[in-house]
Amino acid sequence: MSTPGILITGSTGQLGSSFRQVAHLFPGYDFQYASREDLPLDDMQKMREVFASVQPRYCINCAAYTAVDKAEAEKEAAFKINAEAVGNIAKLCNEHHCRLIHISTDYVFNGTSAIPYREEDDINPLNVYGASKAAGERSALQYCPDTIIIRTSWVFSEYGKNFVKTMISLMRSREEISVVNDQTGAPTYAPDLASAIMKIISNGHWLPGIYHYSNAGKTTWFGFAEAIKQMISSNCRINPIPSSAYPTPAQRPQYSLLNTDKIVSAYGLHIRDWKESLQECVHKLQSV
Ligand SMILES: NC(=O)c1ccc[n+]([C@@H]2O[C@H](COP(=O)([O-])OP(=O)(O)OC[C@H]3O[C@@H](n4cnc5c(N)ncnc54)[C@H](OP(=O)(O)O)[C@@H]3O)[C@@H](O)[C@H]2O)c1
Repeated sequence: MSTPGILITGSTGQLGSSFRQVAHLFPGYDFQYASREDLPLDDMQKMREVFASVQPRYCINCAAYTAVDKAEAEKEAAFKINAEAVGNIAKLCNEHHCRLIHISTDYVFNGTSAIPYREEDDINPLNVYGASKAAGERSALQYCPDTIIIRTSWVFSEYGKNFVKTMISLMRSREEISVVNDQTGAPTYAPDLASAIMKIISNGHWLPGIYHYSNAGKTTWFGFAEAIKQMISSNCRINPIPSSAYPTPAQRPQYSLLNTDKIVSAYGLHIRDWKESLQECVHKLQSV
């Protein structure tokens, strides 16, 4: 029997890049990494050709329009990639008997809950990005009902652009910064999520549907920044501020903690505390 192929879209992004880091732990799979150039999500013909030539057994859709604030002014572009293209990938997966893992976001929720969101809770996005990702969830399940959707939150890693890298750079160049202290959530280390996805695939039991995954624990962006400061031994002063003092084009949920019980019990995952994963990320960033 041939080695099952796994097509990773968005291979240059945070999550896509993280599969390169964990791939050696899963030697029974043939990882095929597709960048925007290899697999443009707005080009169905090219996507068709890639699926026909790779014939993947699994597709992990890590590609997305992720510019949350820019999306407010670029609604059409966000929906094209996060909803329409997801429907096209789902159709191709269905045609090719390929199992789809699609990634979604905590921003599908409106943040008014006082307890961690469960998969079956009502969604009600506050911004265009969240609405486009919610539409993507519906398209994925409509065109490929066998799909696994994983909602995640506050993704960080050594790769691409993210809060940890921005904070380290600001803390090295400024004496004082301000960070919002009234949005609560859980950071997610992209390589931890990549490993969790590979454990789901290699587990052998494919249970389609929506799952939540983030690192364990909770914090605010201010708390996240304080932890980074401690780990890099910075003297930068961090001022906690309300979101109202840092207006952004896109409104964000005040609370977006995800309840991860379902993925833990379905797949027997152990999820690390976000601070343990942050320590690993900071260590890797400092040793380059
Ligand atoms: N980042 C977060 O905090 C966060 C939170 C919750 C959920 N998520 C979800 O998690 C998933 C992974 O996020 P991430 O942080 O890894 O994202 P990322 O670092 O922004 O990477 C996105 C990837 O998508 C690619 N891409 C964008 N437009 C494309 C197009 N038209 N055609 C083909 N590829 C395209 C990008 O290519 P280029 O490098 O060429 O631009 C990049 O490889 C996404 O579904 C995202 O919505 C992220």
